Amino acid sequence: PSFAVLNGPNLNLLGQREPATYGRTTLAEIGKSCATVASELDCELSWFQSNHEGALVDEIQRLASDGTDGLVVNAGAYTHTSIAIRDALSTLDAPFVEVHISNVHAREGFRAHSYLSDIAAGVIVGCGVQGYELAVRRLSALAGQHG
Ligand code: DQA
Repeated sequence: PSFAVLNGPNLNLLGQREPATYGRTTLAEIGKSCATVASELDCELSWFQSNHEGALVDEIQRLASDGTDGLVVNAGAYTHTSIAIRDALSTLDAPFVEVHISNVHAREGFRAHSYLSDIAAGVIVGCGVQGYELAVRRLSALAGQHG
């Protein structure tokens, strides 16, 4: 199977950005550990980050037409604002797992609502950067169940 990891705004700054909340691991390091897990599980993995809502929508549409088997999505702040990203994800036949590094339920009230959670196959919150790896494992398990 072939999966994709999508990262939204400000996640390019991981490692420097609010380390007390997000830790010291960079996005490139997360990419490496996900690639290792994916190869263990015999999965292909593509990687995308953008600070722009429309670019994320374009990438989701591209993945949908390429027939991806699943997505890991950390939409960053767009999680809490973007009907456009929700609509793009709704057109996918493949499942997606929503990931947040921080525990969004233990922070400001506006982070508790997600436009994505009710259409996600699963949600991983507050597990730190390990959440990405857990999400890849989950997609692999789901793809196995569906043959
Ligand atoms: C985040 C949580 C969001 O509320 C925030 O806007 C982010 C990162 C996380 O991974 O914890 O940019 O998605």
